[in-house]
Amino acid sequence: MGLTIALGGKGGTGKTTLAGLVIRYLIETGRKPVLAVDADSNSNLNEVLGVPLEETLSDAREMMKKDVPVGMTKDIFMEMKMEQSLVEGEGFDLIAMGRPEGPGCYCAANNLLSSLLDRLMKNYDYLVIDNEAGMEHFSRLTQKDVDLLLLVSDSSRRGLMAACRIAELVDSLPMRVGHRILVVNQVQEPPARWPEDVEKMFGDGNIYVLPADPLLAQFDMEGKPTSRLPADAPVVQEAYAIFDKVLPRAEKAA
Ligand SMILES: Nc1ncnc2c1ncn2[C@@H]1O[C@H](COP(=O)(O)OP(=O)(O)O)[C@@H](O)[C@H]1O
Ligand SMILES: [Mg+2]
Repeated sequence: MGLTIALGGKGGTGKTTLAGLVIRYLIETGRKPVLAVDADSNSNLNEVLGVPLEETLSDAREMMKKDVPVGMTKDIFMEMKMEQSLVEGEGFDLIAMGRPEGPGCYCAANNLLSSLLDRLMKNYDYLVIDNEAGMEHFSRLTQKDVDLLLLVSDSSRRGLMAACRIAELVDSLPMRVGHRILVVNQVQEPPARWPEDVEKMFGDGNIYVLPADPLLAQFDMEGKPTSRLPADAPVVQEAYAIFDKVLPRAEKAA
């Protein structure tokens, strides 16, 4: 039985970093195969995972409008493009959505893309979807059920409120969320109490904190994939402790 894990939250709070860590955790705990879906138009999950990225699905969508070779059907062309966009890593594959379609979009291309993406996802037991703050792509995915929603915030009030708003947005979408948690990242000192709205939205026991880790910052600065931090790095240890708790719960609810 597989799981779909989605990340959300304000920009710059650590969603992609945490996506990288959860992917590594899944692989290390034998939860494979994993498909990593980069649903941020500013694709950078590949950097955290340490794999190259050549094409995104939006590149494929644009090409379908003008570059389909004579004698090839659009379906076959898109299938080929999707295969080319799939990046193989160790224990996971990665696909990047690229920019959401703008106005005047060619809907047939999007529909085709959605159904191909759906089919692709069925080949994997574990899906990890790294979203951008507005969850633009997310509301378009046909695969809507999420077993674990990881909302990420910094410790600012604004970040926390953004997490609450995204939780509300997700609640308004036609999808099932099995288990939802808030991870407050880069916390120096956890407050005695979280703002009331936060407590209400996430409830006792579903709010977790992660420390700021200088080694993670250093990896980032040097352009090293942060998902390859040493296992004893504080942020890896603490993130794993969170996953140890929440994954079995999400699996039970799935
Ligand atoms: N716990 C942490 N300690 C130190 N730096 C962090 C931590 N979490 C994230 N960062 C850094 O913060 C920046 C934003 O993180 P990122 O995961 O890209 O956020 P998002 O995907 O939400 O925009 C990156 O430079 C990342 O390396
Ligand atoms: Mg990101």
